[in-house]
Amino acid sequence: MRLRRAFLYTPGEDEQKIEKACALRADCVCLDLEDAVSPSKKEDARITVAHAIGTFDFGKSERLVRVNAPSSPYFMADLRTVIHAVPDGIVIPKVEEASTLQEADGFLEAFEAQQELELGAIRLIAIIESARSFINLKEICAATPRLEALILGAEDLAVSLGARRTPSNKEIFYARSQMVLYAAAYGLDAIDLVCNNYQDEDVVYEEAVSGAELGYRGKQVIHPNQITVVQKAFTPTEEEVQKAQQVCAEYEAHMQAGKGAMGFKGALVDMPVYRQAKQTLARADMARDW
Ligand code: COA
Ligand code: MG
Repeated sequence: MRLRRAFLYTPGEDEQKIEKACALRADCVCLDLEDAVSPSKKEDARITVAHAIGTFDFGKSERLVRVNAPSSPYFMADLRTVIHAVPDGIVIPKVEEASTLQEADGFLEAFEAQQELELGAIRLIAIIESARSFINLKEICAATPRLEALILGAEDLAVSLGARRTPSNKEIFYARSQMVLYAAAYGLDAIDLVCNNYQDEDVVYEEAVSGAELGYRGKQVIHPNQITVVQKAFTPTEEEVQKAQQVCAEYEAHMQAGKGAMGFKGALVDMPVYRQAKQTLARADMARDW
């Protein structure tokens, strides 16, 4: 398991922003060749990104590249250029079929063998952002063990559905819930939608908390202002940690005494509640090392 709380996009053509991104302590830094880059800059951006991945110090941040969509004329050239810098992973947008991931997997496998890299060294992450992607989600999840996470692309999904975007996100709620369900079933991380508002921290925080409550492991962010607040939303609070510690200690003692369910501060604690508390402690431990 990796920490993927704040998943930061940085436009691939902007070397200054990339340098800045390296020092922001986002859990993931994803250099973008897709929507943040205009068609006239696609080739320059590809070179800039490959250079940055190969030479810049990203600290502990996961080094990712979002290539252009498989259906675009840029996809293969992006893949060929950036893999030579050996990023930690490739993010593929607009994944609609399992075969897209299987083909990318085969391509990466051949590259890894040729370069004598460990098999699976370059991870895959898929963006799920059309009605068709959701219909094929089960096959997509099972496409390759190289796949580590699913990302919810809310804006493209809205286009695909013909939905109107609202601050409540109710129009994508079914898909947002479905993604967590499938990701959990296949042991993948689910990364929640982008909040386009990067000025108001309360808006981002609230949306991030709602994603964490659904089971998302992290959220896509687009601006430095959103990083700390999103990391906070996906990290158990000190109060939650203390409560989880007490629940675990008391329930373990209770079990050792041969007893089952117990009351804790007026609420039931049984095995699933105990397991939730253990999960809280494991998440807090991971975040503490960041
Ligand atoms: N990554 C790294 N640095 C970023 C950044 C990002 N995503 N967004 C902003 N910054 C930097 C700016 O360069 C600026 O640095 P400076 O103070 O050293 O000059 C600082 O953070 C403050 O930025 P600000 O002036 O508030 O924003 P901006 O007008 O430069 O940029 C956006 C606003 C929205 C264009 C920018 O945040 C951005 O490009 N976000 C990513 C967009 C993207 O990748 N979209 C595709 C995926 S959805
Ligand atoms: Mg998209």
